[in-house]
Amino acid sequence: MHIAVIDGPNLNLLGVREPERYGTATLEQARAAVRTRASALGVEVSFFQSNHEGALVDALQALRGAADGALVNAAAYTHTSLALRDALLAVGVPFVEVHLTNVFAREEERRRSLLADIAVGVIAGFGAESYVLALEALTGWLRRRGGAPGGVVRV
Ligand code: DQA
Repeated sequence: MHIAVIDGPNLNLLGVREPERYGTATLEQARAAVRTRASALGVEVSFFQSNHEGALVDALQALRGAADGALVNAAAYTHTSLALRDALLAVGVPFVEVHLTNVFAREEERRRSLLADIAVGVIAGFGAESYVLALEALTGWLRRRGGAPGGVVRV
């Protein structure tokens, strides 16, 4: 099973960017935690980050046939980008929307997501740990979905 982790604008600055809000872990440290959990779960992971909407669209399009699922922290584009929504719809890859902060407890504009209703689920508010929680949740969901009709779990 292959899960792609896609990060949007400014997440390359994790660790130095508003640390009181986003925490002190860098993106590399967040990725390392995901890698460790992925290897325990027997899942392959890949990572992509861009500050550019079009590059993110390209990365999402490339998931077709290449990933079983994705963790998507589209950052500010979560709240604005029909293009990312359309790319996710076009590709149809099951994904979890991820946020370090609890966007529902922040400004009005951040409470709206253009991606949440087409996601398997949303994990927000646990800092860098949100990625690990999302990986666990999506892996479980994909494995259950891959089970026999009637909901028998294949692990
Ligand atoms: C974020 C929340 C977004 O509103 C914000 O624009 C980000 C990060 C988060 O992970 O908490 O850049 O996606």
